[in-house]
Amino acid sequence: MNSSITLGTILLLSLSCLVVESRRQLHASKFSSEPPKSNANATRWAILVAGSSGYENYRHQADVCHAYQILKSGGLKDENIIVFMYDDIAFNDQNPRPGVIINKPFGNDVYDGVPKDYNRENVTANNFYAVILGNKTALTGGSGKVLNSGPDDHIFIFYADHGSPGSVAMPGGDDIYAKDLIEVLKKKHESNAYKTMVFYMEACESGSMFDGLLPENLNIYATTAANPSESSWALYCPGHYPTPPDQYDTCLGDLFSVSWIEDSEKHDLQKETLEEQYRVVLRRTLVDYLEFSSHVMRYGNLGLSKESVFSYMGTNPDNDNFTSFTEELYPAAIKMRAANQRDAPLYLLWHKFNKADEGSNEKVEAQKKLQTEISRRQKEDDNIHSLAVLLFGETNASRIIEYVRPTGQPLVDDWDCLKMLVRIYEKICGMLSIYGKKYKRAMANMCNEGVNEMNMSEASRKACSKKYPSSSSSLQNELH
Ligand SMILES: *[C@@H]1O[C@H](CO)[C@@H](O)[C@H](O)[C@H]1NC(C)=O
Ligand SMILES: *[C@@H]1O[C@H](CO)[C@@H](O)[C@H](O)[C@H]1NC(C)=O
Ligand SMILES: *[C@@H]1O[C@H](CO)[C@@H](O)[C@H](O)[C@H]1NC(C)=O
Ligand SMILES: *[C@@H]1O[C@H](CO)[C@@H](O)[C@H](O)[C@H]1NC(C)=O
Ligand SMILES: *[C@@H]1O[C@H](CO)[C@@H](O)[C@H](O)[C@H]1NC(C)=O
Ligand SMILES: *[C@@H]1O[C@H](CO)[C@@H](O)[C@H](O)[C@H]1NC(C)=O
Repeated sequence: MNSSITLGTILLLSLSCLVVESRRQLHASKFSSEPPKSNANATRWAILVAGSSGYENYRHQADVCHAYQILKSGGLKDENIIVFMYDDIAFNDQNPRPGVIINKPFGNDVYDGVPKDYNRENVTANNFYAVILGNKTALTGGSGKVLNSGPDDHIFIFYADHGSPGSVAMPGGDDIYAKDLIEVLKKKHESNAYKTMVFYMEACESGSMFDGLLPENLNIYATTAANPSESSWALYCPGHYPTPPDQYDTCLGDLFSVSWIEDSEKHDLQKETLEEQYRVVLRRTLVDYLEFSSHVMRYGNLGLSKESVFSYMGTNPDNDNFTSFTEELYPAAIKMRAANQRDAPLYLLWHKFNKADEGSNEKVEAQKKLQTEISRRQKEDDNIHSLAVLLFGETNASRIIEYVRPTGQPLVDDWDCLKMLVRIYEKICGMLSIYGKKYKRAMANMCNEGVNEMNMSEASRKACSKKYPSSSSSLQNELH
């Protein structure tokens, strides 16, 4: 295999799928003026979760901070809004505006006032479950704020970060696996501690967190940025349109998140139903070229979509005189470009490399980092491919890696098996990167085909003992 060609090809492919340009005609939709159905005794609760850390993931914490501002101006109280965010962005060395986070080009600061409930080491899957369940004794760190909700209450949960088939990430410790999350939601339902719940989730393959898993009878309505087998998209990225201010070498938001947040920001939410918001978000998130689209999905009790957004987010009195959805919010033809969430790190490294002055130290550094990232991806691709060949033979390997189960069927039948295979692989071959986590689907397929602990250990040892060229001297030329 000629590795220099492969590296160049990977880069080209990766970058070509980052750039999407779409022109859309959005029609004004009619918002009905249904009266809000919330009862006077109902309290609105919210949990907001940014699952990443690092400046290159600026956008997830920006989404979450902005969501907090929406809820706050909607009338929710801080005691009812629980925030999980690593909190390494506002005062990050690379942040051109220390202490300020923005969620769109030239947007207002969204960091101001955001509660510091679960930060740094306290942003964990375990704490997230404990907060949902209102179980203070299960917490390990954090402010101690939990969902102390009653049977009349409405709960809104928003999660933004990287996902992979069957799980979404947290900055420390274990990923949130779909099966565990669903178990927690079932337990919450059994404890009669809410009336209805709305879950908005932004992540790659986020549909796989609920598809075939979230029962209709829990009074939970979930929407996800993507179906079970596709990426979600970052927005407001350098070099794209709309572009962040020059000093920002990072994306400022995510497409699905920004779509609901900017919609909620402008409307009288007493007059907008969840259904109407879904349609707005769906349209904005589904870009015209099919291969670059993500499909906003809905799961659980779809009957709840008739409720007003107001029941969950309140409404900002400044929007009281809002009458109807106007096209002015979305210009008739928007030229928009978005970046594939999973490739965003690669894109940002490439952008830095491209921007740096010829011959500068910065350029050399940027190139090294880019090369490292490309090699790491290639190594993960090769490891998984070898593993699949060892277990299923050359002809069936790609089927095992790529097979997607039909809609309505969960990713894997035995979730403990999936966790086990991931654990064994990571122990022997190294941790899966954000990129490599896409191969959790391959591992799920292996479980569904009966691969056991012994098969996996043995094959991983063989597959990952191979040595690969770490970089190519001809890469320099290919990057121009
Ligand atoms: C509100 O709570 C009070 C006292 O618990 C109860 O009597 C009343 O029926 C509740 N109202 C509604 C609309 O549920
Ligand atoms: C709360 O968590 C603790 C520790 O994990 C557990 O022992 C306890 O049973 C939980 N309480 C409830 C009500 O689930
Ligand atoms: C994590 O939680 C512990 C216990 O509440 C607290 O002392 C610590 O400051 C928290 N860490 C951060 C970074 O907030
Ligand atoms: C809404 O309209 C009413 C009546 O015209 C006016 O008194 C009020 O100030 C307006 N509210 C906002 C937030 O613009
Ligand atoms: C490939 O999979 C099919 C269907 O499961 C099986 O019949 C066949 O024997 C496999 N081929 C190899 C080379 O393992
Ligand atoms: C896994 O190991 C078992 C024996 O423990 C063997 O029967 C089976 O064929 C192996 N499966 C694969 C896919 O290698």
